[in-house]
Amino acid sequence: MPYRKDDIICFCEEVTYETIVRAILDGADTVDKITDRTAAGLACGTCIEDLENILEDILSGNQAIERKR
Ligand code: FES
Repeated sequence: MPYRKDDIICFCEEVTYETIVRAILDGADTVDKITDRTAAGLACGTCIEDLENILEDILSGNQAIERKR
């Protein structure tokens, strides 16, 4: 499911999809690195699966940040 860039992926830390994608494009190629850079996943961990999915999508080029719907 495509995300919109303002969608909150990590509710605990209020991290948006756009912030996560930027971190990935900036070199965060593991969930741990995304967490280091954005704080997403630091608290309850519920968003970790989403982070994994987004990471996979971006690294495989399936989903561009511009794709909104
Ligand atoms: S939703 Fe991301 S740590 Fe809780």
